[in-house]
Amino acid sequence: MTVRPRRSVLYVPGSNAKALAKARTLPCDALILDLEDSVAPEAKEAARGAVLAALAEGGYAPREILVRVNARGTEWFEADVSALARSCADGLVLPKAESPTDVLATAALLAGSGAPPGHPLWLTIETPRGVLSTAALAGAHPDVAGLVAGTSDLTKDLRARHVPGREPLLFSLSSIVLAARAHGLVALDGVHLALDDESGFAASCRQGRDLGFDGKTLIHPRTIEAANRFFAPDPEEVDAAQRLLAAWRQARAEGRGVTVFEGRLVEELHALEAERLVTLAVAIAALGPD
Ligand code: COA
Ligand code: MG
Repeated sequence: MTVRPRRSVLYVPGSNAKALAKARTLPCDALILDLEDSVAPEAKEAARGAVLAALAEGGYAPREILVRVNARGTEWFEADVSALARSCADGLVLPKAESPTDVLATAALLAGSGAPPGHPLWLTIETPRGVLSTAALAGAHPDVAGLVAGTSDLTKDLRARHVPGREPLLFSLSSIVLAARAHGLVALDGVHLALDDESGFAASCRQGRDLGFDGKTLIHPRTIEAANRFFAPDPEEVDAAQRLLAAWRQARAEGRGVTVFEGRLVEELHALEAERLVTLAVAIAALGPD
């Protein structure tokens, strides 16, 4: 089992040269270099050029680099996708994905523009149609690798409000996690817009983690450290998982399919989850300190 940590995934506006440079130094697991919402219409072409140049220059490893193109149906979509097909980005993020046709058209355009086979495609779910199609989108093409919740656009389209517990979004957030898990994809939670709201950010990380998300998309570097902490298993959890695995191996060696560990029933499903946690903790430790 291998896992790649995606606790903290920072959006970086493609039109902001300083941010593109700074991203090479930040302790986030992944970056989404953005050509869409954070770039003004008149800056789109220049941002595309700047992102391609930044990718060619490199220096982003070990961070995973995704590039968010403009949505299908906009005047920039085709040029964005074909320009990025042969870049060294680790994946392309398609915003406002609404139907399997959006996914198939993007995959075909990537392939037709010289992208290597299996080029990962991430989908942002941020419209009512997108949410209603999450399962179909997640299974639309074998190159779909992850789902990203786009909670700002979704809140607007739902005519909902930004409230602390995110109750208006819970159905959508859970639909995204459910579809991601059903298809073996990564699931990333949406951004927290209030930059100075440390306790609200912490609560939304905790909630996203408890819902099952792998990590959180971010808009500012100062939130990376907290996201890394909330989406990593804590040391006591890892210790307990290791003890549980030892007890489980002992039980299996004795031919038992269930055992009792520290007063709780343990079956294979608990062992599998403990193994996932330990594998994730090892992968995070391999990244070194923040
Ligand atoms: N990625 C990389 N670096 C960033 C960054 C980001 N998203 N946001 C800020 N920085 C850098 C700044 O360039 C600055 O660098 P410096 O120390 O070299 O001067 C430093 O972090 C501190 O930034 P700060 O002055 O606090 O913020 P700002 O006023 O420059 O920018 C925002 C604030 C919100 C405009 C900016 O964070 C941003 O554009 N975020 C991303 C927005 C986005 O992508 N939206 C679409 C997805 S929702
Ligand atoms: Mg958006």
